[in-house]
Amino acid sequence: MSINIAIDGPSGAGKSSLAKLIAKQMSYVYVDTGALYRAVGYQVLNSGKDPSDETQVDQILENIDVTFRSEPDGQRVFVNDEDVSGSIRTMKVAMAASDVSAFPSVRAFLLESQRKIARDTDVVMDGRDIGTVVLPDAQVKIFLTAAPRTRALRRMLELQSRGEACSNSLDDILEQMTQRDANDSSRNTAPLRQADDAVLLDNTDLSEEQTLAAAMKIIKDKLDMET
Ligand code: DC
Repeated sequence: MSINIAIDGPSGAGKSSLAKLIAKQMSYVYVDTGALYRAVGYQVLNSGKDPSDETQVDQILENIDVTFRSEPDGQRVFVNDEDVSGSIRTMKVAMAASDVSAFPSVRAFLLESQRKIARDTDVVMDGRDIGTVVLPDAQVKIFLTAAPRTRALRRMLELQSRGEACSNSLDDILEQMTQRDANDSSRNTAPLRQADDAVLLDNTDLSEEQTLAAAMKIIKDKLDMET
């Protein structure tokens, strides 16, 4: 049986950085589920449709194929064979992803590919509903969070390191992030929430290295591994 580690939490908490480090340390495959919702959001925007209009989004779903491939330097995501891994990393696409992710049709469309890889492979999967819906039987569940301003600052540094959004102030990013978290937490289908059996990890005052050490302790305890 494969081992599944689920990492959920609000945006900017550092889920993907942590998940990548864990995957490297454990030699597991890292699966970034947010990238799949971003791919749908990207295609909706690209087609000139409205990401908050369910009928328009459903029309897009009829004509797209979203796939992903794990590579040594991370995950690549494809829409109809076009590699969109770079194009989906903008604030506009993030918001579109959050909008489309509220629709049950979009969640159903992406569910099976997430479950399939976790069935066959040891994975570290990050998202919003991994511990609650996608992999309710994951052996390890971590809910990673941090203070909103800390998360906004991290997201700003990340966007700047990609050469994007230098015009966005910290307050703009904080506002968008707050709106996106409210969207993600208040939707009816698979909202962002901590699973009852997830361990809460607040890394507001932790470095990346300290966050990894805390997460590895949780993982080793749960998997009964030697430290
Ligand atoms: O993790 P991210 O910022 O790349 O995710 C983008 C959006 O996708 C997020 O605001 C909500 C949605 N999402 C989701 O609904 N469920 C997931 N498992 C992952 C992401």
